Amino acid sequence: MPSKQPEFRRYLVPIDSLSTQQFFTDCLVIGSGIAGLRAAIEAAGCGASVTLVCKGTLADSNTWNAQGGIAAVVRNEDSIESHIADTMATGAGLCEPEVVRQVVSEGPALIRELLDWGTEFDKTNGILDATLEGGHSHPRVIHSHGDSTGRGIAEGLLRKLRSMPQIRILEHFFAIDLLTNDDNECLGVIGHRAGNSLQIIWAARTILATGGAGRLYRETTNPENATGDGLAMAYRAGAVLRDLEFMQFHPTTLYIAGASRALITETLRGEGAILRDRDGNAFMKDYHPDAELAPRDVVSRAILDRMLKTNSTHVYLDIRHFDKEHFRKRFPVISELCESFDIDISREMIPVRPSAHYLIGGVKVDRNAASNIANLYVCGEAASTGLHGANRLGSNSLLEGLVYGRIAGRHAAEGLKRPRTYLRPKRIEFQIAHSDRSHLDTDDVRNSLRALMWRNVGITRRETPLVEAQEIIRFWQRYVMDKVFDTPFGWECQNMLTLALLMARAAEERKESRGVHFRQDYPAPDNDRFLKHIELSR
Ligand code: SIN
Repeated sequence: MPSKQPEFRRYLVPIDSLSTQQFFTDCLVIGSGIAGLRAAIEAAGCGASVTLVCKGTLADSNTWNAQGGIAAVVRNEDSIESHIADTMATGAGLCEPEVVRQVVSEGPALIRELLDWGTEFDKTNGILDATLEGGHSHPRVIHSHGDSTGRGIAEGLLRKLRSMPQIRILEHFFAIDLLTNDDNECLGVIGHRAGNSLQIIWAARTILATGGAGRLYRETTNPENATGDGLAMAYRAGAVLRDLEFMQFHPTTLYIAGASRALITETLRGEGAILRDRDGNAFMKDYHPDAELAPRDVVSRAILDRMLKTNSTHVYLDIRHFDKEHFRKRFPVISELCESFDIDISREMIPVRPSAHYLIGGVKVDRNAASNIANLYVCGEAASTGLHGANRLGSNSLLEGLVYGRIAGRHAAEGLKRPRTYLRPKRIEFQIAHSDRSHLDTDDVRNSLRALMWRNVGITRRETPLVEAQEIIRFWQRYVMDKVFDTPFGWECQNMLTLALLMARAAEERKESRGVHFRQDYPAPDNDRFLKHIELSR
């Protein structure tokens, strides 16, 4: 049946499943970050045939770009209880205690597994190096090749994955929509492979590991493909989304007007970097006793305040006191980045400002990584497991991706029957009525949306701009959601509008400040009304 309300359309494209090219797999994994890779390895290890698809190359993920590290208890002087307590304290009342215990406790063994699979974590005298980040009471952020941690982990996982013949990898496959039946069961995905027409992958189990949505903001550390597609398609399929108001902003992104933004890892502050305003004042002590190592939301707001007070577009990160040779070895990615902009770190400070970094919210899952849609599992940044609460402790996300990737892979592969009679094509037909409404320039809509989200649903929020943002997004939706696109660029724009509206709505609904969500009009937490999650579904 064609839908009368285009913004609520079930599928973005018309479907005639029986005349569409089709593939079959036990487990379909969508996404190639740490969670997707770990899930694929686990599912294949449990005997399932696995197809892993990603919309770019295997390297186009937030994981690949992660610098600082992965948090885990690896030192004798540290403890599981301490890591749990830090995670819970940072999460501002909304962490799920059992999930926190599960992730933190399983971390060390999974790090050992990564070492076995070839990830070279940095060591001194045979002992893992560990650094501090804000909110951690012990150095427990371990790293690989200095600030190439994500890449080091992904390469190790890929080596393992490529040694497993039952895993097939399809790059440049854009997953458009999850296919579901009337019994609320996920049947696989309809997507588009570069150079081909639409394709259906029927899967007994689908694992969504599509990452985050930093690209909904003008300023972000995220790669270009982080447009929230997984969350938007899960929403269309009827999944419950949760905690979408909690977008974490990273305090220090390289700011050079005109240049693309790049993360400047928090571990620099963990190792002594100082934030200074344009007049050279170290200002963080004025905002929090932990100064540079205060929680990220505090540092981001402090920087914003300082930028306003000094009438400046950015502040500076001062590492002039670092040993230059040590810096080059310990932070090779940032070192190269600075050199590429002729910043001599022994004489000059690095211009930085906050930007959108990590979406804490996502598809609500249980402790088996299962969503409310049968056969659909979600892990990594796309999931809301309850680990982070209202504020994520730095470097806990790679850990969560690893732990919940394994859990998703294991549970998805459970109970698959032989012979695989469940893998038969099903009839799904969906038509979309032609719309005579005007066309908008999707490039312009995307850019305007990113500016709107930054302005109205950014680091600090207020009622009127949040309401206004929803009105504007709804207006764009009328002209974009009614169209049928045939390229990822168009589908991404539809997904961005879908998710942005939900994020603005959740931010409006939470009339208090908690964790990374700061409302200027409600600057304090309101435990009586809001010590709870905000859930949204169709
Ligand atoms: C960083 O290196 O500062 C980012 C790490 C994270 O977001 O967990």
